[in-house]
Amino acid sequence: MRCSSVWFKSVASFALLFASAAIARAEDGSVAWLRYARIANPEKYSLPKRIVVAGTDPVSRNAAAELAKGLQSELGLTTTITDTLADQGAIILTNLQVLAKLLPTPAQAEAVLGAAVDLPPESYKIHSLQMQGRKYLVVQAASPTAELYAVFHILEEIEQGNPLPTFFSSTPSAPIRWVDEWDNLNGTIERGYAGPSIFFENGHVRQDLTRAGKYARLLASIGINGCNVNNVNADLDLLTTEHIKEFARIADVFRPWGVKLALSIDLTSPQTVGGLDTFDPLDPKVISWWQQKVDEIYKLIPDFGGFTVKADSEGRKGPSQYGRTPADAANVLARALAPHHGVVLYRGFVYNNHLDWHDLKADRARAGVDNFASLDGKFEKNVIIQIKEGPIDFQAREPVSPLFAALRQTPQALEVQTTQEYTGQQRHMVWLPSMWKWVLDTDMRVGGRPSHVKDIVTGKTFNQPTGGFVSVVNVGMEPNWLHHPMAMANLYGYGKLAWNPDEPLEKIIDTWTRLTWGNDPEVVRTIDAMQLKSWHVYESYTGPNGMGTLTNILGYHFGPGIESAERNGWGQWFRGEKDGIGMDRTVATGTGYIGQYPKELAEKYESLASCPDDLLLFFHHVPYDYKLHSGKTLVQSIYDSHYEGALAAAEYVPQWESLKGKIDAERYEKTLALFEFQAGHAIVWRDAINNWFRRISGIDDAQGRVGHDPNRIEAEAMKTGGYKMVDVTPWETGSGGRAVECREEKGCTLATTLDKPAGTYDVAVQYFDIWGGVSTYTLSVNGAAVATWKADDKLPPAQADPHLDGQTSTRRTIRHVALKPGDVLELRGVPDLRIGLFHGAQTAGLSGAQGLRMQPDLREFAPVDYIEIGPDGPITPQ
Ligand code: GCU
Repeated sequence: MRCSSVWFKSVASFALLFASAAIARAEDGSVAWLRYARIANPEKYSLPKRIVVAGTDPVSRNAAAELAKGLQSELGLTTTITDTLADQGAIILTNLQVLAKLLPTPAQAEAVLGAAVDLPPESYKIHSLQMQGRKYLVVQAASPTAELYAVFHILEEIEQGNPLPTFFSSTPSAPIRWVDEWDNLNGTIERGYAGPSIFFENGHVRQDLTRAGKYARLLASIGINGCNVNNVNADLDLLTTEHIKEFARIADVFRPWGVKLALSIDLTSPQTVGGLDTFDPLDPKVISWWQQKVDEIYKLIPDFGGFTVKADSEGRKGPSQYGRTPADAANVLARALAPHHGVVLYRGFVYNNHLDWHDLKADRARAGVDNFASLDGKFEKNVIIQIKEGPIDFQAREPVSPLFAALRQTPQALEVQTTQEYTGQQRHMVWLPSMWKWVLDTDMRVGGRPSHVKDIVTGKTFNQPTGGFVSVVNVGMEPNWLHHPMAMANLYGYGKLAWNPDEPLEKIIDTWTRLTWGNDPEVVRTIDAMQLKSWHVYESYTGPNGMGTLTNILGYHFGPGIESAERNGWGQWFRGEKDGIGMDRTVATGTGYIGQYPKELAEKYESLASCPDDLLLFFHHVPYDYKLHSGKTLVQSIYDSHYEGALAAAEYVPQWESLKGKIDAERYEKTLALFEFQAGHAIVWRDAINNWFRRISGIDDAQGRVGHDPNRIEAEAMKTGGYKMVDVTPWETGSGGRAVECREEKGCTLATTLDKPAGTYDVAVQYFDIWGGVSTYTLSVNGAAVATWKADDKLPPAQADPHLDGQTSTRRTIRHVALKPGDVLELRGVPDLRIGLFHGAQTAGLSGAQGLRMQPDLREFAPVDYIEIGPDGPITPQ
């Protein structure tokens, strides 16, 4: 091979700049999976010390800098970045646009890259080669952004100690690989659980967008190419010129990472921002307003991605107001965006939230197909229908939305949630890629032929030019982005599946674990195993058998609140009655929803004989003693599932503790505290659901566990000094439906004389932790304190919940307490009665109308539910 032998110009040496950065920094999770930790035997790579990057594109330069930084950190390799080849080995980054600059003759190009130089968009190839005794690592990419993707891949492989292959190529599955952030201009985030917005504060874009830039880097590292920064319930003044100018600053920090900015818009903007007397999408004034607005955006943000639209849904106005269809509305926007290559992501989440629950034929699940199927083929080419994975709303498990099969002439995108709205709000570890993969691999059997969701949304099945993936992420200002260190695996996994839906789950989680926690085999084995089972574990202690997540749907969607889903207009009913439970969605006797699926799937779901156990109650109303395929009765299966699930969640604690010393202290302690919380909250879930089922079905647990807790001492049954009994609502979220509160400044006591055999025990105190107040608890034995703690956690929801319920119930376990018969166990609670907490809106950080409306009383009366004394050991047993 003959390389250009021009003397290279040294452009920059990034080496020292980044030296030892990885080692010195605090492990607060802010670098996520991009830790670039030094690997065990760096010498095995012997990579060239020159990075040659062609062209001046800032993304290419950024890719080279990232590579230099990563190699320095992972291998201790100091490299020089140049823009010309020399007579020595090199790592070469090039893309199709600038190839001729670097390798001017076809012979040179062929010698380095092999014959083929055409690549699908955003793809890259990596070759390792030896020529004339020199080593080359050549990245040939379709675009500067693809160079970046290749660089992240190389660094990921090295970080795991994997050999760099002689040849590797990669192509994303679809052009739309976006994340949505539900951030409001005032800095709050709808369904965000990790602090305020990284983009906005006080009605404006933040001055300091450092974190937004860091987020874009994280996104690029997993192949994400678009980020919609604002809530789908968009601020009505979003599109003012003042705001658009500010959004351009976000686009500027995204650009070096190949991430396009997108916005959610409200369809009334021509009125609210433009001052028109209508927002009828077919009105010529409205059409021209959108055109001008879009042109204005592109003048400031030339690579703007497009709009996301939520309309005629949950109180948002939409085209129905003028008798127009979603296609009418979407097309107006699409035509304005098309000349600039922008797209419209129109959400399929359109439904009536005032359904009549008395009507046994009414069914929210039908809404997607009912509203959109007849519009198939009527959308402009750059409209993509964004469809939630299930027909309801991000539950722990739903069947796949039938809308995927109904739209055959319209591009589609699968919408999932990385933010764990209904799945534990980043206080429970739930690795959601397991669920998403299950969705992606579902074969809809359109026309009796293979039509997996992954092939539909990537445009393969129906031959669509575009489509892809969107995930609602809602990162916040907390260093760790998503609060729970384990939740970052959801974001990572989302990116990996969007890039390649066929990537095995085991490989995704294994890579994430190695990058995030290091390559120690025990660490990797333990964390991989925990994550891989975590979706199933969560489902089993919340809502198995297709019930949906039985969260308090009228509250914050976090803790159990079973009947909140019933008898209201929201349509998340599961119809739990005396005779049985489940929505009859059959064609024969029910809502007919099942008929929206292609024939083979419809037949499978319609018949009780073939309907899978894990979706049963979504499709059928069955008696409690109905025999499942597993051989158990429904109700017994529910009881067992909740005990098994809660036990599995409790086991995360000792599993994690087995890694002590192998993980940095900061992340170890934080994660341990979260697992301890999850173990306690899983018991709240277990007991709430099981007791509720026992009451409604009238059927006892064959194993005698439900409602019988021999190790439990109810607070209201203890001898009290000052504590008063209160009801817990809903009843199932407090043990026995009751708790106690203390309203005395000096505090109150609960005491009991024990008759346990002498030994060492774990003592768990189940209490309630309200946002505003900080009560203090002290547990003592025979007057000697064994533990003191403050109820100062900020449990989800992200807003203050002043109630004693399934969202505020929490637990403290004191280990290894020596007890003997006759010992007096006393719990002393000192409440937080500060006057300021009475009108708690200020304390809770609520503002404006929301604050005034809620005015919660955030005083905390040192509430206690029960004390449980179990055998010594890390698991608090039933
Ligand atoms: C859920 C969620 C809302 C959100 C909506 C949506 O209902 O609770 O906060 O606005 O989904 O996806 O539009």
